[in-house]
Amino acid sequence: LIETLQACFLKNLQHELLTHCQIAKNTEDETVLSDYIKEINLAHLHPFQGGGKLVRPTSLLLIAGCFGGLDGVAHSYSVASAIECAHTYSLVHDDLPCMDNDSLRRGQPTVHTIYGDSKGLLVGDSLLTVAFKILSSCQSFPKKIPLRSDLIIQLISIFSEAIGMQGMVFGQWLDISESEIADQSLNQNEKDQWIIFQTIHKNKTGKLFAASFVMGLLCGLYSKETLPDYQNLEFLKKEFFNFGIDIGLAFQIIDDILDTTQSSEILGKTSGKDLSQQKLTAVKILGIDRAQKYAENLIDGIENKMKLISEKNTAINLDASYSDELICFLKKLKTRVS
Ligand code: IPE
Ligand code: IPE
Ligand code: MG
Ligand code: MG
Ligand code: MG
Repeated sequence: LIETLQACFLKNLQHELLTHCQIAKNTEDETVLSDYIKEINLAHLHPFQGGGKLVRPTSLLLIAGCFGGLDGVAHSYSVASAIECAHTYSLVHDDLPCMDNDSLRRGQPTVHTIYGDSKGLLVGDSLLTVAFKILSSCQSFPKKIPLRSDLIIQLISIFSEAIGMQGMVFGQWLDISESEIADQSLNQNEKDQWIIFQTIHKNKTGKLFAASFVMGLLCGLYSKETLPDYQNLEFLKKEFFNFGIDIGLAFQIIDDILDTTQSSEILGKTSGKDLSQQKLTAVKILGIDRAQKYAENLIDGIENKMKLISEKNTAINLDASYSDELICFLKKLKTRVS
């Protein structure tokens, strides 16, 4: 199921990128500016060439399947592509010399090492912008579905909050205040260090996961003929937001562990960066074993919580084949290597 779903997703992503993120041929400029047009087109496709694990779009699609079955998944591909574009933007900018200064990403040279820092910045800008274009066009969501516009407005609102300054940007802001935060937190007790750490990780990584989860939920629900009543809808949105925060936090903790335990070849990105850049990570606060256990508990918690949702509320039906697949997919994150 996951392989088919990811293959369909990649086809959609390719289609969205070619439609919305390329300068069209046959423009008048083509003859005089062809070298630059070739360059800008290639630069925008480059960060996708090395693949990526597709954790956020896959989670989104499986959650859409839990609530909307096959239709829910089929309708959600564009939304998942928007998420992957915004995530890829965050990596392009995260790697810039003024941020983490990384030369390797997804097993490939980073965008700025090929095209220069300024153009790397611009590629990131475009990928963030195009995410909104894809989301607002929402090509895979059928136009005839009632409340489609209502859905799209909600998606844009959830998405922009997650990646803006109340979400990912806030987390990245704190993250690059690294040495000051790390120095300050050395003087704090473990509990206070943990609060600072959680704020960073929940914002820089958790919020985009949370948005992916809630957006998958909404796409699934809006694919059905009737929506749950307002109270149930709000309840589900809250639950899936919290699931996403938990998984995002666990995912970032495991990323921090892998940064210290794996080679650059295996990770496809430079290992050992967090230590050399004095980042405040779970490994620094808890050590590898306790950090791993903490992340595993967060991931394991989801299974029970998902069960409770449908037990507590009989009006909510989860499609078992998708929810089993989702739990299985999330559990694999515990032992992921790259
Ligand atoms: C990297 O995300 C940034 C983090 C939040 C740890 P991923 O590990 O999902 O990166 P790709 O998409 O697989 O390259
Ligand atoms: C990045 O965290 C989180 C983002 C919002 C991009 P990291 O800086 O740990 O991600 P990697 O290790 O470079 O992928
Ligand atoms: Mg970073
Ligand atoms: Mg980084
Ligand atoms: Mg990292």
